[in-house]
Amino acid sequence: VSNREMFRPVYHFTPAYGWMNDPNGMVYKDGIYHLFYQYNPYGSMWGNMHWGHATSRDLVSWEHQPVAIAPDALGTIFSGSCVVDKDNTAGFGAGAIVAFYTSASDRQVQSMAYSLDNGKTFRKYARNPILTSTQRDFRDPKVLWHEASGRWIMILAVGQEMQIYSSPNLKDWTMESKFGEGQGAHGGVWECPDLIELPIEGTELKKWVLICNLNPGGPFGGSATQYFVGTFDGKKFVNESPALTKWMDWGKDHYATVTWSNAPEGRHIALAWMSNWQYANNVPTQQYRSGNSVPRDLSLYTSKGETYVKCTPSRELLKLRDKGTKKRSFKVDRSYNLDRLLSDNTGTYEIEMTFKNKNAEIIGFQLFNSKGEEVEIYYNLVDKQFAMDRTKSGDVSFSKDFPAVTLAPIEGKDEMKLRLLIDKSSIEAFGDDGRFSMTNLVFPSEPYNRISFYAKGGSYNITSFTVYNLKTN
Ligand code: FRU
Repeated sequence: VSNREMFRPVYHFTPAYGWMNDPNGMVYKDGIYHLFYQYNPYGSMWGNMHWGHATSRDLVSWEHQPVAIAPDALGTIFSGSCVVDKDNTAGFGAGAIVAFYTSASDRQVQSMAYSLDNGKTFRKYARNPILTSTQRDFRDPKVLWHEASGRWIMILAVGQEMQIYSSPNLKDWTMESKFGEGQGAHGGVWECPDLIELPIEGTELKKWVLICNLNPGGPFGGSATQYFVGTFDGKKFVNESPALTKWMDWGKDHYATVTWSNAPEGRHIALAWMSNWQYANNVPTQQYRSGNSVPRDLSLYTSKGETYVKCTPSRELLKLRDKGTKKRSFKVDRSYNLDRLLSDNTGTYEIEMTFKNKNAEIIGFQLFNSKGEEVEIYYNLVDKQFAMDRTKSGDVSFSKDFPAVTLAPIEGKDEMKLRLLIDKSSIEAFGDDGRFSMTNLVFPSEPYNRISFYAKGGSYNITSFTVYNLKTN
């Protein structure tokens, strides 16, 4: 592995060469997960947007495919979505994969293309564009089938609001409503919407979730994913808690999150672009830029009367684990060091642990390497926050916005579970089975292979601790 490849993740998707941003048009059909993505085939910075394409049977090992949709006279190809038109409502053919994207030039309009060979090749619809507007920021169509009203729905990001359209045939669209004023965070432009109905765990109930990516205006600067929980009747989305802003992930590198269309078993599998517009063009990787997050199954949980999204790493990730190295339960009253996490640490591993607090105010640890580079992770049980500090994580020099401490609110129970998925240049933390997640990039000059636990204000036990090497076939 040459030095320039040292940060390339193993179980996260990256383009072989060139620039990637948003995941686009994710759709499942006949055993294959399709991933399209914002792609510059000519260089590793943003520009010349195409839809790149990759396929997978298991969401963790990906095969590169030829570019799916390339620029034309209407413009470059911005973000969007795909559906499987099972009943041939559009007349392209039963089972056609129909793609919706924004054609971007000095204006933004919505276009359509379809595939009659299971996503291998796309033909553009002859009467594009299918939707135009006088608004400048008018993009990222997400199309879904709304069972109750028997119609297709398109949700579009327009400036700082979402517009909802309906259609019987995927070609003719009627505006139904707008959503956004007075709702959630408005520190930047709203982008890449999604609208899904999710089950509330432990109940028979479901609620609708509107995913709304925004840039800038994220909780730690730059781009981030917010969402709203409420009802949707086929025309109008109503947010049940307008006064609250809800973030899907509490790190700096989780953006443009959308879900797979037509996923099996009623699953709602989300994928995010694992970077931030503040520095995505400057991260120290060559000759590609950006990977995606791990796939996450979304569901809902309720805490103190409020409903939130839970992000569980998709179960397919479990099969990457080797047999694992376990430690017996141990107590931390001042500090406790583990000098070697793995004998063959290649920077692609997972740590799963359970903390049982006695009376500590801070439960924390540093993950570090022999170069003095470290990531500090801690629970502050007084402020009820979980934190990840990457200010000394390795190369942080390429952007003033990169060094950061990110924080997530926690309930602060006596027993807390934490799962860390590490893949060369990223750390994804999942707390309490995904009740919170935090995704951050890091660029260490060698893998972190040591851990040093500490306690402040009291002590705690680590009742389970397992490290797994993660390997794809
Ligand atoms: C979000 C975004 C989208 C747009 C695409 C262009 O990251 O700005 O709104 O379609 O990237 O590449």
